[in-house]
Amino acid sequence: MNYFHIFLITLLPIWGLNSCNARIFTLEMHHRFSEPVKKWSETAGNFFPVGNWPEKGSIEYYAQLADHDRLRRGRRLSESDSSLTFSDGNSTFRISSLGFLHYTTVSLGTPGMKFLVALDTGSDLFWVPCDCNKCAPNEDTPYSSDFELSIYNPQGSSTSKKVTCNNSLCAHRNRCLGTFSHCPYAVSYISSETSTSGILVEDILHLKTEDSDQELVEAHIVFGCGQVQTGSFLDVAAPNGLFGLGMEKISVPSILSSEGYIADSFSMCFGHDGTGRINFGDKGSLDQGETPFNLNQLHPTYNITVTQTRVGTTLIDLELTALFDSGTSFTYLLDPTYTRFSESFHSQVQDRRRPPDPRIPFEYCYDMSPDANTSLVPTVGLTMNGGGQLAVYDPIIVISTQHDLVYCLAIVKSAELNIIGQNFMTGYRVVFDREKLILGWKKSSCYDIEDSNAVPAKSHNSTTAPPALAAGLANLESSFQHTGCSYI
Ligand SMILES: *[C@@H]1O[C@H](CO)[C@@H](O)[C@H](O)[C@H]1NC(C)=O
Ligand SMILES: *[C@@H]1O[C@H](CO)[C@@H](O)[C@H](O)[C@H]1NC(C)=O
Ligand SMILES: *[C@@H]1O[C@H](CO)[C@@H](O)[C@H](O)[C@H]1NC(C)=O
Ligand SMILES: *[C@@H]1O[C@H](CO)[C@@H](O)[C@H](O)[C@H]1NC(C)=O
Ligand SMILES: *[C@@H]1O[C@H](CO)[C@@H](O)[C@H](O)[C@H]1NC(C)=O
Repeated sequence: MNYFHIFLITLLPIWGLNSCNARIFTLEMHHRFSEPVKKWSETAGNFFPVGNWPEKGSIEYYAQLADHDRLRRGRRLSESDSSLTFSDGNSTFRISSLGFLHYTTVSLGTPGMKFLVALDTGSDLFWVPCDCNKCAPNEDTPYSSDFELSIYNPQGSSTSKKVTCNNSLCAHRNRCLGTFSHCPYAVSYISSETSTSGILVEDILHLKTEDSDQELVEAHIVFGCGQVQTGSFLDVAAPNGLFGLGMEKISVPSILSSEGYIADSFSMCFGHDGTGRINFGDKGSLDQGETPFNLNQLHPTYNITVTQTRVGTTLIDLELTALFDSGTSFTYLLDPTYTRFSESFHSQVQDRRRPPDPRIPFEYCYDMSPDANTSLVPTVGLTMNGGGQLAVYDPIIVISTQHDLVYCLAIVKSAELNIIGQNFMTGYRVVFDREKLILGWKKSSCYDIEDSNAVPAKSHNSTTAPPALAAGLANLESSFQHTGCSYI
């Protein structure tokens, strides 16, 4: 039971910040295989396959993560399906386990209701199950009284407002019945036939700042009241909603910033125990590494350019563009980079290579010698566009089988797109600065108070014409313009 208490306290007063009023809101994130999510899913045993929970470091553990990557990106990632058909499980079963990499708890509405939502840098909308026509099952599950899979009810929250079709965030105006009717939404995701649809609503998201004042903020945001879910959303991929962190104006970070609550930036870090942090408003520090995003105006994504790759003592001068995606566990590279990279890794490894194992999603695996010394494993580094260096702390994964230890280069050959996954971000605080359109990174243990020497946010005044949000929001804007901070 105690676990649930720990789990639900997600607004952490950890990083005391700038003297100035640049606000940062922090949420604790939990990896899908972290202890709290495990406890939670055990309690929710009716539809989460508890017996299938993989031992950390086992083949099944990595296989499930790679499987998840593939589900997330569909066929664009792996060349052949067979290399990803693992072990004894059946794929329906795997989709049934939690489908995203990181979860957090948010509180919405008045009175506040808690939702355990999946975090996703690959999409934009925030939605929760609501006025359900077709939602993931939530009844008859033996939750503790501390935690329920909530269902949002606009009538049940005194601060809920409808978002009408004349709102600039209403993207599907062609489906509107009239200017002042409810704005409908529908979003499809890349993974197999997965979608959510319903209407947009406005309500309060409860946030707390990180400074010593611990200011409580009731941020008015727009989100999806998800009435009909399909595909893996019915199969509990995100049973309690999805929190999009993309660049479009509908995402919560965009709304918080356009309303003046925070600077338009957030950071993420990933601790080794599966608990990490997401910090809204965090622009990182002056001494962080930086590289610009490659911006596609129509569909902005966290797309960066790597100009050179270093593997041990070998420099590979192949430029590549890649998505920087914290929601993908491993790193996926297209040829010719994949082959050059893995072959030069192989040529510098001194341990014996293992024969291919269909259960392991990686091609280059080695027996770890008894006098294992990981300083002998070739190190990996990326040179980013602009010259910034990103040393990869965790290019390998170590698998423990019953008899021995195996390590693998945790890179998979991709079919269509390059993805720098979470394994290359380990040990860093990664900053998605959407104002300056740069990616930032700095070494971090994820718990260091030292890390908090953040750069005060630049003024984000309304010269960039924030989208006219729902009626109630316009007033707020002015009150948050006067935070009295002389930004650098
Ligand atoms: C996978 O599991 C589901 C549910 O247990 C079952 O209905 C289905 O037939 C299984 N598929 C295979 C290929 O074993
Ligand atoms: C939409 O129309 C309503 C009713 O006239 C009005 O109160 C509201 O301000 C309008 N919203 C926007 C964003 O124009
Ligand atoms: C990333 O940006 C490059 C350059 O603009 C583009 O060619 C590439 O298609 C983009 N990749 C993705 C996955 O969007
Ligand atoms: C590992 O190898 C490095 C370089 O050869 C050596 O300096 C270090 O002492 C070794 N560490 C262990 C634990 O053997
Ligand atoms: C907004 O900031 C820009 C420069 O950062 C400044 O030129 C402009 O006057 C400011 N606008 C308002 C309304 O404060």
